[in-house]
Amino acid sequence: MLNITEEDKKWADQVWEKIDAKMRIVAERNKDIIPYTTDSEGRFIDCAKGEFPYDISWWTNGFWPGYMWLLYVGTGEAVYKKAAENAEELLDNAFAEYDHLHHDVGFMWHISAGVDYRLTGNKRSRLRALYAADFLAARFNPAGNYVRSWNADADMDSEGCHKLIIDSMMNIPMLYWAAEEHNDDRYKNIAMRHADTVMRTHVRADGTVHHIVEVDPKDGSAVRAKGGQGYELGSTWTRGQAWAIYGFALSYIHTGEEKYLMTAKKVANAFIACAAQCDWMVPLDFRQPEEPKIYDTTAAACAACGLIEIAKTCTEYDVKNYLNAALKLLKAIDEKAADYTDGNDNLLNYGSEAYYPGRGEAGRNTAIIYGDYYYTEAIYKLKGFEPLFW
Ligand code: GLY
Repeated sequence: MLNITEEDKKWADQVWEKIDAKMRIVAERNKDIIPYTTDSEGRFIDCAKGEFPYDISWWTNGFWPGYMWLLYVGTGEAVYKKAAENAEELLDNAFAEYDHLHHDVGFMWHISAGVDYRLTGNKRSRLRALYAADFLAARFNPAGNYVRSWNADADMDSEGCHKLIIDSMMNIPMLYWAAEEHNDDRYKNIAMRHADTVMRTHVRADGTVHHIVEVDPKDGSAVRAKGGQGYELGSTWTRGQAWAIYGFALSYIHTGEEKYLMTAKKVANAFIACAAQCDWMVPLDFRQPEEPKIYDTTAAACAACGLIEIAKTCTEYDVKNYLNAALKLLKAIDEKAADYTDGNDNLLNYGSEAYYPGRGEAGRNTAIIYGDYYYTEAIYKLKGFEPLFW
């Protein structure tokens, strides 16, 4: 239960209405695709028909159906359901791309098929989500106590170590769900042993986190940290912080283990301190140089979701801290980065993939589907909608 002021509730209501007004039109014209980013005309590019890696096995392909389900729960509008169901069907083709799949099956199926099943009871959706959960569970290394993040081609470049990434914390909620669904704690045990490893290997003393840590597969010991998508080794990649805030908060919600909540708060406290220094318009990395200006609204929106969940666990005094920080992040997006017109398909601007120019400038300060998803999920939470999608 979240106690928000009447004024903030009114603000959330207005934002929700603006998102819905835009997205009814955008969903109608994109109901047969799976978007990731936009082209120069502001139109979604389709990953269902795209080329590797932005193809059907691209890790973000669950966000569009998840986004559509959020809007469906909040409005009952049929076009959202249709778009979500179509994307879920298209995503079946990704199961065939076995060697392109990795731990991100959680992102792909937990908020698409998993949510479909939890909302509608669709039996086929249940099987899709359970199949994905089995795939994820099979990546568990019992000697090292972690779910392997990537595959051998991306993974094995340093003396046989495995790269373990902070993003994984958002994939394991699917295992908590599978444990309940199968009435089998194996899945939950795997998720908790993974969360314990990541807590030890990735969270630094000051509450910031590493993106990538290479671990020894024989015992899960940390061998060395790697730079990853942030500015440099030892810097503070903001989306990695957000994955940790929301991911550990979710592990707390699903297990009741205080240590996960304390970790979520510790990372959140570091995030809040840094975000306050940049007027809540979050950069790609809190330690990047002043120029060029590279923002990441995906990090801000995902962090806001985690902060709202933390706020729900807090006493009156602490609620203010976490909830106000979430509202500051969301209001900065609303004022500076959201596009509520239906001319462009994307809802948010200023998302960024990585500091290193993977797609050149095209991957910076741009539209990214999971920014739209998490912003909408945060507003959904402020409005008190249920269920929790993760
Ligand atoms: N999970 C990859 C990313 O956050 O870009």
